Amino acid sequence: MSSGMDIWGKVTQGANFVQILVNLGLFGYAAALMASTRFYADHNATTPISEGVWERIQLSRKLWANPSSIHEPGRKAHEFMEESRSWVAQAVGLSPTQVVFTSGGSEANTLALWGSELQNKDFRLLTMGIEHSSLLDTAKHLAKKGSQVAYLATDRDGQIDLEKLEDELDLFHPSLVSLMAANNETGALYPIPEIAKLCEKRGVLFHTDAVQALGKIPAAHFNSANMISISAHKIYGPKGIGALLVGKGLSLHATHFGGSQEIKRRGGTQNTLGIAGFGAACREIDLGKAESLSRLRDRFEERLLSRLETRIFCRGFSRLPNTSLIRFPGISADVLLSALDLAGVSASAGSACSSGSISPSHVLLAMGYPREEAKEGLRFSWGTETTEEIVDSVADTLIEIVQRIQERRRSC
Ligand SMILES: Cc1ncc(COP(=O)(O)O)c(C=O)c1O
Repeated sequence: MSSGMDIWGKVTQGANFVQILVNLGLFGYAAALMASTRFYADHNATTPISEGVWERIQLSRKLWANPSSIHEPGRKAHEFMEESRSWVAQAVGLSPTQVVFTSGGSEANTLALWGSELQNKDFRLLTMGIEHSSLLDTAKHLAKKGSQVAYLATDRDGQIDLEKLEDELDLFHPSLVSLMAANNETGALYPIPEIAKLCEKRGVLFHTDAVQALGKIPAAHFNSANMISISAHKIYGPKGIGALLVGKGLSLHATHFGGSQEIKRRGGTQNTLGIAGFGAACREIDLGKAESLSRLRDRFEERLLSRLETRIFCRGFSRLPNTSLIRFPGISADVLLSALDLAGVSASAGSACSSGSISPSHVLLAMGYPREEAKEGLRFSWGTETTEEIVDSVADTLIEIVQRIQERRRSC
């Protein structure tokens, strides 16, 4: 526990910091700090739990019996869980029997790849370098175990060439193609229905990571894949729960053993509270509201473009309605993120941050950007509680920070 001295030290340090900001002319910062207002612009990292989701979790708490038990409380818990499963299935436009609950999107990705590899002696995977780390790390692990893994290239706008994909399908002969529906950093969307057709024509299994797509774009954009990964905490549900949707009749080996839950595809007593919240989050999906975020995203981008030299990745291509990945040439994302954080803005780097320093974004590297530029990606992702006032304030704070940094560099 902190002593009184520690707390006072922090308060005075904070007050000094505000004074320094005022002296530097950073009034916007100082005001935000004093008012301790926070603006959240990191919905692709996670979202707040909605009221409706919370209510459903509380209801589930009362039905605490094991859903596999055959006594009456167990049957009631099972019924409640199955209702949630049907809402998850509905959100993706598939049937409840296709839903395999997992601990989240990462496990769903691992299950799709590893479960397929366990089914197949000569496993060959075709994926992309811009995928989420859970998928890339599983792919690396499978390669170490002896599988062949190939990566489909994307250009500097994050786009793939479907003719090149056809060539890869015909020359590499993958057992599984895994290409994401929407990229978490750039927001770029991928033509899943077209890819599904190309794979189906050749009898190749197709998995898509739709963790960022669910709830933001219609399910028709991604539900034609044979396996689909989704996660609750990106759609105002709880963390630690997700699902892999598996095509009817498709055989997939379990990677968790110990019980016949989830039609023997994922052993272990189900996370009933998480599943309750996931079901409610899926039932609450409002695609109209999600789509309307593109207006706020564009307003934010135009405000920046009108005042600063800014690069916006994948602008002009199909993107998630809520995401902007931005670069200010010559300014590393960690500098801007720290300044934004102090000014009360929660955003994110397009790259991984470990021990306080930023490593280049693997997504931007895979898109062909040099290491220095791949350290400059700054992601803003908006959600249902975002307003015009919020995007304007965040844009103005960012403009002020960037201009001050540029002025200081010119005067040095
Ligand atoms: C595209 C994508 N896939 C998978 C995941 C992992 O999901 P989870 O956090 O539920 O493990 C994320 C999370 O950021 C993601 O953005």
